[in-house]
Order: sequence, then C-alpha cells, then structure tokens
Amino acid sequence: MSMFPLNKLQEIETPFYYYNMDLLDDTLRTIKKESEKYNYHIHYAVKANANQRILKTINSFGFGADCVSGNEVAASIEAGFTSDRVVFAGVGKSDKEINIGLNNNIGCFNVESIPELEVINELAEKAGKVAGIALRINPNVKANTHHYITTGLEENKFGIYIWDLEKVMAKFKDLKNVEFKGIHFHIGSQIQDLESFKQLCVRVNELQEWFEQNRYFPQIINVGGGLGIDYEKPVENPIPDFKAFFKVFGDFLELKEGQEVHFELGRSVVAQCGTLMSKVIYVKEGVNTSFAIVDAGMSDLIRPALYQAYHKIDNLTSLGADQKYDVVGPICESSDCFGKAVTLPETKRGDLIAIRSAGAYGEVMANQYNLRELPQAIYSSDL
Ligand code: LLP
Repeated sequence: MSMFPLNKLQEIETPFYYYNMDLLDDTLRTIKKESEKYNYHIHYAVKANANQRILKTINSFGFGADCVSGNEVAASIEAGFTSDRVVFAGVGKSDKEINIGLNNNIGCFNVESIPELEVINELAEKAGKVAGIALRINPNVKANTHHYITTGLEENKFGIYIWDLEKVMAKFKDLKNVEFKGIHFHIGSQIQDLESFKQLCVRVNELQEWFEQNRYFPQIINVGGGLGIDYEKPVENPIPDFKAFFKVFGDFLELKEGQEVHFELGRSVVAQCGTLMSKVIYVKEGVNTSFAIVDAGMSDLIRPALYQAYHKIDNLTSLGADQKYDVVGPICESSDCFGKAVTLPETKRGDLIAIRSAGAYGEVMANQYNLRELPQAIYSSDL
C-alpha cells in the first residue's frame, strides 16, 4: 500500500479521485515505446477520462485524441492536441457538434451512416471546407469467419453494414465536401483475450481486398480501442501488455503501401492510475454480514451498479484481522454497493478505503444523484 502518500491523503475531504501521475507517465511511455516499433498512431479515447490534467499529460507524449462529442473535441483542443490529431466519432453527432469539428479543422470524422455523411457534406460546404472521413464498419468479429458478405450481421446501431459499403463509397463521388480517408472499427471494450483482435485483423484483411478490387484506397486503418486491464490484480499488473497487443496487429494485419494504422485506446491508458478514495462513515452489523458504509456512492463511481463491474477494494489504514464486509455507499438504492463479502482488515469509522482501477469511466460517469457533490480530482504530482 506504500504507493499512496497516506498522511497527505488522510487530510483531504473524501470522496475524491486520486490520480497517480507517475503511473500514467509510465503507461504512456510504454505505449509510445511499443507502438513506435510499428509506426502506429495512437489516439486517446477521451471518453475514458476527460480531465484537463490527464489530457495535457497524454498530449505531451504526442498522441492524438478520439472524441465522441463536440465538448470532447473542444476539451482536447483546449488541452493542446493539434486539430489534425483529433478525430470525432459517434453514431449521433448533432449539427452543432459537427460544426465544432469543422471549425476546429479536425483531422477526421468517423462516420457511421449515409445520412450522417450527407449532413457533414452539407455543413462542410457551408463552411467552405472539405471534411476528412473514415467509415466505421461493423466487422462482426464474433461470428464465424466465413466470407464476410455471407455472415449475418447482428442489428447494431454502430457502424455501416458491409453490404451497404458499395452504396456509401459511391456517395463520395457526388459529395464534394467530404473526402474518404479510411476505415474504422471497434469491436468492444475490456477485451483481455488477444484472439479477438487477431480475428479483427483477419476481417480487416478481407475488407481490404474488397476496397482494392473496387479501386478505393483507405489510407487510415483505424482499429479502435478495447484492450482490457487487470481489475483483479491492479497492483501486480498496473500496465497492460501493450507489447503483446501491438504485436497481434503487427503479425496479422496486412497493410498496403502508404497505409497508417490508428488506435483509439481509452481504458488501458488511464484505468489503473485512478483510485476512488473514500472514508468509512459507519460499520453496521447485519444479520449475516457486516456493512462498511463509505462516503463514496454510485454517483461517484457507477460501474459496479451499472455493469456489476468488479473493482478491488482496500482498507489503507487498518492493520486488523481480516473480516468480510459488504462495502456500500450512502445512496438510497440497493444497487449502491461497491462489493459484497469483501475481505478487509477489521474496519472502523474513519478508515480510508481505496476503490481501485477507477481512472477510466469513473469520474467521467459521475453524476449528482441525490444532489450529491461531484467528486474532486487530486493529482499525485500536486502532493
Ligand atoms: N473507440 C470507440 C469507437 C469506442 O466506442 C470506445 C469505447 C473506445 C474507442 C475506447 O475503448 P476502450 O479502449 O476504453 O475499451 N463505460 C464502459 C465502457 C464503454 C466503452 C465505450 N466505447 C465501462 O465503464 O466499462
């Protein structure tokens, strides 16, 4: 537990997110080193954590930003990301948001439907610009790997169906204010089995044949994000195995001359550097279980309530004998529970509780349910 500056943390009003900026630096250094071996382009998925301090740190390593709202585009530009390294994805971009992207001259819009392509074209024409476009294609990697046209794709709001590609590509001939730059995929999140990424590569290779036969050239091959992290053992495995991850793409993706491979990594970049810090308000003995009631709730970190997600929980200040506790928040919902039957040293009022691996999709998903205050962010480099 020595990685936390306990004396200082105990003085700070809880709950708050604590960010270990050294770990973030180490993670970013690793990503840079491993991705540079293949000349890969990394765009950080801002949705995972949009704090300016975090964004600025990520930008300082020369990465780009993958945004899913106009406000994320604006936040990225504010943090210093140069506009050519900003991409804007999302199935439902509003006109206002598209204009934010156009006004900032962002590098690329990841487009998910024909109506969206038409609207971007129209707005770009009004702005006197030509927007760069990557088409998000639903690669349906989970189905068996028969020929891509014959596989039945699930109904899914994301991406363009493979059987619509011909129609979409033909559109570019009519639309003068959009330029086809590449193709984009994202197969899911918290993926720990690298086999899925290998399947993605196989599917991308198949699609590349179609583009070649039809004489289209996607310069950008954006394979999305999704690399998982170790929620069970955050201390032992603070940095995901980026080396093995990039190697899968190095081994299996067949590139054409002049193509760039882009990634949109979110969780794997920031999850382990963030911890939700909370204090025990009361310990209540139940019939079969003891409750450690903490001052953080599902409004601060919603992942356990929303996805039944596991986050490791530690008592940082007790040295007592192990017992089991249900660690719950103060919010008036039974789902406001961070963990059931969690083994902790004997826990008492005032103990500092760390809820680990909360740097991704933690603070960004916080809300003010029960009129609670939003959690503060504390950075290790300030203490
Ligand atoms: N690119 C696209 C198109 C995405 O939809 C996402 C995440 C990413 C990149 C980044 O994926 P990552 O590398 O972080 O896996 N709130 C959920 C996660 C939602 C992920 C949505 N898309 C959670 O707390 O687990």
